[in-house]
Amino acid sequence: MCLNRNIRIHPIPNSWYRVCFSKDLRPGEVKPLRYFNKDLVLFRTESGEARVFDAHCRHLGAHLGHGGKVTGEGIQCPYHGWIWDKEAHCSHVPYPHTGCNPTVKIGKWPVSEHNGTIYTYYDSEGHPPTWEMPKFPEFYSGEWVSAIQIYKRDVTCSIQEIAENNSDTAHFSHLHGARFGKVLHESLEFDGLNRTHIAAYEIEIPILSKLLGIDEFHTTYQQYGLGCNRNIVFLKAKGKKVLEWRLICMHTPIDKHNAEALCITKLKKFINIPITRFIVELLTKKACEEVDKDAMVWDNKVYLEHPPLYKEEHSISQFREWCQNFYSEVDKQELAKWKLDKTEQTRAIPALPRS
Ligand code: FES
Ligand SMILES: [Fe+2]
Repeated sequence: MCLNRNIRIHPIPNSWYRVCFSKDLRPGEVKPLRYFNKDLVLFRTESGEARVFDAHCRHLGAHLGHGGKVTGEGIQCPYHGWIWDKEAHCSHVPYPHTGCNPTVKIGKWPVSEHNGTIYTYYDSEGHPPTWEMPKFPEFYSGEWVSAIQIYKRDVTCSIQEIAENNSDTAHFSHLHGARFGKVLHESLEFDGLNRTHIAAYEIEIPILSKLLGIDEFHTTYQQYGLGCNRNIVFLKAKGKKVLEWRLICMHTPIDKHNAEALCITKLKKFINIPITRFIVELLTKKACEEVDKDAMVWDNKVYLEHPPLYKEEHSISQFREWCQNFYSEVDKQELAKWKLDKTEQTRAIPALPRS
């Protein structure tokens, strides 16, 4: 991690973000989370609903994610046994002759669960979501095989800068090397809160190119808010679709300086399951190597508000403009000041003592 960081760090954008995979939270299970610069508790109720509350009990501050127990649709604090119901209101105080005050409550976060994923919605002013994460068909069909490998790594970088990576097509051939050759075609669309980027590249993946003649990587890259992007990829041989692959990245802010980067992949059944499994793991290994190169850059870069962009890099400016959709008014005002200040601020953060 680079300590000489630009002092311009974006606020956390308002968006849906992944906090857990569905399979990793059984009914009755409780997990502590640390995202959005907050301590949170995630639990699954007895009826199977996933819930996210602020972590600290409103009574005397115990962390519900450490020792808390699911009771029906709510959670019981490990310290004095107060129960917080499905709306995060106090519903039970286990003292004799004492009722509970139902107006006492803790923070409850919006939760949505599909695509095998539990998402929660972050809004810097606590407003409810105005849009939903869509369902992706590949999560609901037996035609798809998931890779066992996933990419997961914490990076010191703001969510907006991580998401900018895919608008920066000039880095593909240099950072990602010969595997991405000539750009065959490219288009970019912004539709309200969604963004679609269609691109095709010449590609060479040694085994697949040799065995299946793969020579083109055609991707429709869809971004949903700043926390999720889905690449619909066709690997083609002489213009014919051979393999259909999905690369789904779900990055979650830990705080405004740091994020958890995560990617999963799926391949549509090709010939039979063992062959599909072999190919999806091969593609995923390559994808992990490439995302790791991005992560090296993310971990050490600074954010420049006034970069000297060439006209081929117009998509970066468009992307930055589009990102305004995901900030609260107060954050936008702060970001607008950056535009007026033409000096790039790269004041050093003092280095930590080295042992
Ligand atoms: S701190 Fe939670 S019940 Fe007392
Ligand atoms: Fe990249």
